[in-house]
Amino acid sequence: MMDAQASNRAAWLRNEIAKHDYRYYVLDSPLIPDAEYDKLFRELQKLEERYPELHRYFDSPTQRVGGKPLDTFRQVFHAVPMLSIRTETDINDQGAIAFDTRVRKELRLHEGDPSVEYVCELKFDGLAINLRYEHGELKLAATRGDGTVGEDVTQNIRTIRQIPLRLTGCNAPVLEVRGEVYMRRGDFENYNERQRGQGLPTLVNPRNGAAGSIRQLDPALAARRPLKFFAYGLGETTKGWDLPATHSAVLDALDKMNIPVSNERAVVQGAQGLVEFHRRIAEKRDSLPFDIDGVVYKVNSLALQAQLGFVSREPRWAVAHKFPAEEQITVVRGIDIQVGRTGKLTPVAKLEPVFVGGTTVSNATLHNEDETRRKDVRIGDTVIVRRAGDVIPEVVGVVLDRRPLDAGEPFDLHARLHGKCPVCGSAIVREEGEADWRCTGGLFCPAQRKEALLHFASRRAMDIEGLGDKLVEQLVDGGIVGTPADLYRLDLPILANLERMGEKSAQNLMDAIARGKHPTLARFIYALGIRNVGEATARDLARHFGKLKNLLDADEARLQQVPDVGPVVAQSIFAFFREKHNVDVIEDLLDEERGGVSLEESEGEPARDLPLAGKTFVLTGTLGMSRDEAKERLEALGAKVAGSVSKKTDYVVAGVEAGSKLDKARELGVTVLDEQRFMQLLKECEST
Ligand code: IVH
Repeated sequence: MMDAQASNRAAWLRNEIAKHDYRYYVLDSPLIPDAEYDKLFRELQKLEERYPELHRYFDSPTQRVGGKPLDTFRQVFHAVPMLSIRTETDINDQGAIAFDTRVRKELRLHEGDPSVEYVCELKFDGLAINLRYEHGELKLAATRGDGTVGEDVTQNIRTIRQIPLRLTGCNAPVLEVRGEVYMRRGDFENYNERQRGQGLPTLVNPRNGAAGSIRQLDPALAARRPLKFFAYGLGETTKGWDLPATHSAVLDALDKMNIPVSNERAVVQGAQGLVEFHRRIAEKRDSLPFDIDGVVYKVNSLALQAQLGFVSREPRWAVAHKFPAEEQITVVRGIDIQVGRTGKLTPVAKLEPVFVGGTTVSNATLHNEDETRRKDVRIGDTVIVRRAGDVIPEVVGVVLDRRPLDAGEPFDLHARLHGKCPVCGSAIVREEGEADWRCTGGLFCPAQRKEALLHFASRRAMDIEGLGDKLVEQLVDGGIVGTPADLYRLDLPILANLERMGEKSAQNLMDAIARGKHPTLARFIYALGIRNVGEATARDLARHFGKLKNLLDADEARLQQVPDVGPVVAQSIFAFFREKHNVDVIEDLLDEERGGVSLEESEGEPARDLPLAGKTFVLTGTLGMSRDEAKERLEALGAKVAGSVSKKTDYVVAGVEAGSKLDKARELGVTVLDEQRFMQLLKECEST
């Protein structure tokens, strides 16, 4: 038989778990480690198993998921209709001013009268839901439907851990909370990445993701979707709960009950306050972790709301004020392939110009071949284009219903380019595990010229002091330098005549170039900028082959005999030296008669043990520094940076919103460093 102790303990556990859910899912600041939480959870599960009398469907955290799939959703009447709000289409300040003017007129306020007080909120882009709490317990959750009759989606809503099953400090017989179920952009992307990894269908956008999840008949499916909730109002309320006098106080009260309410809300006075809020949020829009399509203004006083009432099915006391749409549809006229500064080949959709995110867009990135194929973008297709803030516009997906009969073929980058770089004609390659095709004409390709020269001249390569990006820009754009070999044939008068140069700087540069004419083989190899060959690998190669000629002649099997050179690195090196254009530039560089460089080949490099020699890193998520910088710094310390996680990976560095690579690392038990620990490691190693 169950004793009072067990029952008390279960009640305590339920409460405790709810508290931790709130800390974790709503406040995002957990009080205890996950393992501790799991322990509490398992203890409650065990108690409930042992004493079936303890089973409580409505408010036990163990019962959030586990409902059976339904055949259809039950229809439910809303005790108080769920209305929609009027949308102010003028996206400028005028939209806010017009609303205030209407409210003042309706309230018969005159020019000299005080300003009206408003609450400003975000307009969340998801699905409206009514949560019905009876005596503090979540009893029913329903969609809006036609406003009068909605669908009972309680099972699905219960799987959203942000939504409390029991209210804190409220036992009112009835309290209905209204708000929006939505998905964060990062969660949406991680979910899709995971789905793709398993060959499962992906979601089109966060909004459809949220709406679609709630309409799943099987709650187990809904539970897998990373959904969130924000409350913005009330439905039916009964006595037993003291209705506050203002809407802002209602939101504060809901917040106290541990219901998620967005912090991006403000009480303001008059039209000016509305305008300021609209501007402030417009600026912040892209740094919010979820999509919004505008803001909402509401008259704060509930008494004034009642006085203002409704027109048709819209309240006179609220309005939605939009922002420019970040997604639009348009037609793909062509697909171009651009060559980036590092040789990366990016497919770009040429679009019928469309106004999106505040400007006219006629090009949108397709990212890479896999993405283009996955979305199956073809010439002639109608596509959704997204441009959020300063981020480059991208094609999000195809509207398949609108595909014309004469749409193009599925995208095939290699076939389209006949295997050649569209800028320089060098061979293109795509490494195993990489999403991008690249041009192999590193030293020769005009698209990569500036980058190749900057790398060639950099401190750890040929160390040509004074050859910075401004100068490289002028040299390349002026047609003075095409490849690194041309650096050794510069003459003083031409240099001196360049912008911001003069006689003295020109001479200094000439001296710096001359000083570096006898590099070690390792430096020279590194300076060539071969993909995947950092300083450490360059040193290994120099030591192993002794002479450049030996390296040039090596096949992939030979290359793999070098310590730490695996198939991917071997392939990069092999492809680089197989490209005739590159070999021409190297010969040109080494042409002493024409003033080129001579290598110190005989001796190997003095072996200096770098602190991270032999360690392999994988970077994922967003870090405070760029990926390239992180990679460069790691390589300078002797580490390797790989593109995908495997058993050979020593460390995974996980930045913000790390995706499937992090999951993989956990799966394989690879050590994961967060940004802080990563920075610490770099600092320590760099100071030794
Ligand atoms: S208030 C009577 N506040 O926008 C007023 N709605 O047409 C009821 N929405 O589908 C709505 N954010 O789901 C309100 N802060 C917010 C909102 C919001 C998003 C949605 C709501 C409804 C539509 C209004």
